Amino acid sequence: MGYGAKRIIATMDTQKIDNLIIASNREPYTHKKSKTGVVCEKNIGGLVSSIDATMRSGLWIAWGSSDADFLGDEKIDLPPEHPRYSLKRIRLTKAEIDNYYHGFSNSTLWPIFHQFIEKAVFDDRYWNSYKRVNLKFAEAVIEEIKEESLIWVHDYHLSLLPKSIRNEYKDAKIAIFWHIPWVHWDTFNDLPQREEIFEGILGADLIGFHTKSYVQNFIECAKNLGFIVDERKKTINTDDRMIKVKSFPIGIDYHAFSEAPRYLTTRKKSGKIIFGIDRLDYTKGILNRLFAFERFLEKYPEFTKKVTLIQATSPSRTRVEEYRSMKREIDENVGRINGRYETMDWTPIRYFYRRIPQKTLLGYYMSADVALITPLIDGMNVIVKEYIATNDLGVAILSEFTGAAEELKEAIIVNPYDIDEVADAIKIALEMPEKEKRERFTALKERIQKKDINWWFKTFFDSWRKIYASSV
Ligand code: G6P
Repeated sequence: MGYGAKRIIATMDTQKIDNLIIASNREPYTHKKSKTGVVCEKNIGGLVSSIDATMRSGLWIAWGSSDADFLGDEKIDLPPEHPRYSLKRIRLTKAEIDNYYHGFSNSTLWPIFHQFIEKAVFDDRYWNSYKRVNLKFAEAVIEEIKEESLIWVHDYHLSLLPKSIRNEYKDAKIAIFWHIPWVHWDTFNDLPQREEIFEGILGADLIGFHTKSYVQNFIECAKNLGFIVDERKKTINTDDRMIKVKSFPIGIDYHAFSEAPRYLTTRKKSGKIIFGIDRLDYTKGILNRLFAFERFLEKYPEFTKKVTLIQATSPSRTRVEEYRSMKREIDENVGRINGRYETMDWTPIRYFYRRIPQKTLLGYYMSADVALITPLIDGMNVIVKEYIATNDLGVAILSEFTGAAEELKEAIIVNPYDIDEVADAIKIALEMPEKEKRERFTALKERIQKKDINWWFKTFFDSWRKIYASSV
C-alpha cells in the first residue's frame, strides 16, 4: 500500500458525499498521447491538488484540455490507481480556448484580481466567449442534477455558472469557492463586467474565500453595488435569498506530505539549499526573488559557494504574451546572475523550467534548509504548507501578500518588493539558532496539521449544510 492510500481509507467516510457535483475549469488528470500510448498525468495547481485529495465520491465536470482526453468513455473513474470519483469532460473549441481561457479568464480576470490592472486586456470577443463557455458548463451540470445534488463551483473561470444553474433550478444547492484573491472595490470597479460577474456569483448560497480580508472586500463590493448586507453575519440579501460569505483557508493533505518516505532525499548535500517552486506567473515574484538572492550574495560574500538557490518553475499559460515575456526575463537574469558569481565547482542558481514530478518535488522539500516563497500576491499559496509538512526542520520565508501569511505567523514574513529585506531574511534564516528554528517550525507544523485539507472540506460542507438546515 502506498503512503497515500493508508490515509485515503482513514478519511473515506467523512468525505463521502455521493450527490456532489464539482465544476472547475482545470481537470484533475489529463490523458496525453505519447510514443508508448496514452499516458494519464495529474495536473498542477492548488485547486486540482486540494479537491483531488479530498473528493471521495461524486462527479467532477471540467474542460478536457489534452489531446487524448476524448478517446475513451464520456465519464472516467479517477484517480487511475484508486478510483473514487468520476470525471466528465467538456470539449472547448480552439476559439473558446483562446477567448475564454487565455482571454477573459487569464488576460482579464486574473490580472485584475491580482492587482495588475495595467496587464488586463479588455476585448468583447473574450467576454462573449466567457459567457458562452459558462453556459456550456451550465448545460453539462444541469444534465447531471438530481434531487439533493450539491453543486460546488470553483474559481474565477466559472463566475457566471451559479446564476446560470439557478435560472433553471430555483432551489438548487449551489456553493462557490474563489481560489484567488478578491480585490478592493476600487479595483473591482475597473472591471467593465463587474455587475454581471458579481450577480453570477450570487447565484450561489455559500461563497468561500481563503481569508477574512477577501470576505471583507467582497462584502464592500456588495454594498457598493447596492445590495443589502449584514456586516456582522457576512450575509448578502437578494430579492428572494440570503447568501453567506465566509473564509475557509485551504489546507493540504498533511499526512501525505509528512509521511512521505525519507528515501526520497537523494541529494548529497554540499552547502545549504534554498528552494523556490512556482508555476511561471508574474504574480509569483520569481524575478524579485532572483534579485534578492543576488543582493544576498552581494551583501554577504561569506556565503559564496556555501548556498545554492534551487528554483523550479513549471510552464503555465504559455500562449499568453505576459507569461512568455516573463519567461524570457527570468531566463536572462538566471544567466546573468550565474555568469556573475559561478565558479568551476559552484552554480549559485539551479533553475529548472519544466513540470516537476511529485517525487522530485518531495525530495526538494526534504532537502531544502530554507523555502523562499515570495509571491507579489497569491490567493493562498499551498507550496509553503507542503514544505513545512514535508521537511523535518527548516525555515520558511513567506511574502506578506499571500493568503497563507494570515495564518503562518511563525514564518519569516517579508515584503517581496523590498529586495534588501528579503536578502537579509535569507541570512537570518540560514543563521537561525536551532532552538528558535525548532520552536517556529513546530508551531507551523501544528497549525498546518490541524487545519489540513480534510478540515477545509469538512468546515466548508458543515457551513453549507447549515444554510439549508436553518431554512427548513
Ligand atoms: C491557480 C488558479 C486555479 C488554476 C491554477 C493553475 O491556482 O486558482 O484555478 O487551475 O492556478 O492554472 P491553470 O491555468 O494551469 O489551470
